[in-house]
Amino acid sequence: MGRTEMDDNDVRPERFGLRSPGVDALRLAVVGAGRIGANHAEIVARRIPGVRLVAVADPVESAAQRLASELGAEPASLEDVLARDDVDGVLISAPARAHADLVVAAAAAGKHVFCEKPMAVTLADAERAVGAAEEAGVVLQVGFNRRFAPGFVASRARIDDGQVGNPQILRSLTRDPGPFAGDPARVPQWTIFLETLIHDFDILCWLNPGATPQRVHAFADALVSPEARSRGHLDTAVVSIQFDNGAIATADANFSALYGYDVRAEVFGSKGMVTTGNARATDMTFYDADGIHTDTSRRDTDLLRSAYVAELTAFADSILHGSPVRATGAEARTALSIALAAIRSVETGATVAIADVDTAVHGLSTGAA
Ligand SMILES: NC(=O)c1ccc[n+]([C@@H]2O[C@H](COP(=O)([O-])OP(=O)(O)OC[C@H]3O[C@@H](n4cnc5c(N)ncnc54)[C@H](O)[C@@H]3O)[C@@H](O)[C@H]2O)c1
Repeated sequence: MGRTEMDDNDVRPERFGLRSPGVDALRLAVVGAGRIGANHAEIVARRIPGVRLVAVADPVESAAQRLASELGAEPASLEDVLARDDVDGVLISAPARAHADLVVAAAAAGKHVFCEKPMAVTLADAERAVGAAEEAGVVLQVGFNRRFAPGFVASRARIDDGQVGNPQILRSLTRDPGPFAGDPARVPQWTIFLETLIHDFDILCWLNPGATPQRVHAFADALVSPEARSRGHLDTAVVSIQFDNGAIATADANFSALYGYDVRAEVFGSKGMVTTGNARATDMTFYDADGIHTDTSRRDTDLLRSAYVAELTAFADSILHGSPVRATGAEARTALSIALAAIRSVETGATVAIADVDTAVHGLSTGAA
């Protein structure tokens, strides 16, 4: 296969519009050795030329040890990672409610920070994290990987070129692969907004450049696990967002797409329409007596593989060459403000102005611990 946009083994920095780092130019540590931490650690250790995985930290020592030894890095405590001179930056892959404190601690130690989404679960914490990175003068990038997926990048280019015209209707969706196998009791309240749809909120803003979200209305229910509804579990949601340029957007999510992981977006404008996202894992199509079949991905880290590599390559490029951060803390705060407005809409049944969420920065209940 030649080198095309779809070749996920092609990790040359220039493929992502980036310059090559030097040999071992950048030394990174992963904080949080769970599912996505392992994905990021593998990419850093093996997929990005010039970037090295130095250490792995996790309060569960065995998790840090296992991942570190697999990838030739050292297990370490968070304190060690932050104190070490041979760590230039950290990849925060801990659970959402730990993110803001970890960003603040890492920035205070002078480490560049890549933080998984959401950067925080309250606006006050988001501001604290952004402020800490600014004060320390370190790079802060948030894990909005869809911004780096080739089809999303190509869509944004059409919008920037004016070919779509003024965005009028936008859509974004996330369908997590099913059957849902989790224990609803272990899914933190409001996860569908704070951790799933946060991707859609970010990408809708990104595909409507220069516009600001104004008002939000959300419906949500437990349709996959109805027995958990009474405990506040939500696994299905539809959110409408009105922007100040007039565009109206919808985002929807469900935790159990039986056909596989599915992420898509669409922008309909005054001159045309652009769509992106494809649940197909490959371009193979199988035809038989039962019909026409394609393969799908069961994991986000498979479907969006190249986007994960590209976002971490971009992080390295921002640190090494000062290229602009492509998913900033301020942008993560905007996505969070939509999520918090959606939560309040579900709580009250009303349409919620983002301005009201913003002015209540220190008083909003998110159900977060
Ligand atoms: N961008 C994406 O596509 C994507 C995909 C999956 C998860 N995520 C995000 O990544 C984060 C982690 O998700 P996950 O699925 O990997 O969770 P996980 O539960 O698999 O892993 C979390 C790990 O963090 C460790 N941990 C707990 N508290 C910690 C602390 N204070 N400091 C350091 N480590 C700590 C846990 O022991 C665990 O090993 C979440 O915020 C989630 O929303 C993003």
